[in-house]
Amino acid sequence: MSSFREIHFETIDSTSKYLKNNFNELPDFTIVSADYQTNGKGRNDRQWISDKNTNLLFSLLIKNHEMMQNYASLSLYSAYLIATYLESIGLNKVSIKWPNDVYVNGKKICGILLEGNIPSYLIIGVGLNVNQKEILDELLIHQFTSIYLETGKKVNMKELKENIFKSFIDSLYNKSINNEYIEYANEHNYLKNMEVFVEISGKIEKVKVLKINEDNSLKVVCNGLEENLISGEVSFHV
Ligand code: BTN
Repeated sequence: MSSFREIHFETIDSTSKYLKNNFNELPDFTIVSADYQTNGKGRNDRQWISDKNTNLLFSLLIKNHEMMQNYASLSLYSAYLIATYLESIGLNKVSIKWPNDVYVNGKKICGILLEGNIPSYLIIGVGLNVNQKEILDELLIHQFTSIYLETGKKVNMKELKENIFKSFIDSLYNKSINNEYIEYANEHNYLKNMEVFVEISGKIEKVKVLKINEDNSLKVVCNGLEENLISGEVSFHV
């Protein structure tokens, strides 16, 4: 593993926001982590809520231009890194919900939010539910789980953090992204054959999911025609 800088906060508003505000002064591959976020940000302006000292909350700064060109892959690739880590510690029924959520047993365990301003910076924000014992927030629309809830065992956070940071830095620093993750994401495709609602040309359409393409888009069938979706929110109801 090459060296990387970690900045840790007990409490901060959002690890991703910190990087957004300070990317100019910080080196490539800075990781900001926190025990608690007062204003954690999820996709589509949702909040990301997590109890103190319970879950893994971090954001990784990428400023290297070559790696930034991979931005279309980075959401799914990050989900792949988390999913394979969860399998390596013995979790079963791990799947990836395109483009960037990790599910276990049909429940969300990890959310990933990619933000950036290319060509200046990209930030990968990761929230992984680790030792959460109960999911408190009835506002959240997904059914959530955590490593603890799936295994019944409390996880050593320091060890988990080191291993996950290592896997992100090793593969991204060495630019070792190869297309194996697409194959993995298709084998663990949470949405495969599901009928879901997506927005196509400003209209909400019911589509059936076929597969994840090599270019990270999602192949679906809509009104009998195949379409490739570039990104977006997939929902199970209108
Ligand atoms: C999602 O909505 O699924 C994405 C959630 C991403 C949450 C993480 S927690 C660390 C980082 N800081 C934030 O404010 N958000 C991301």
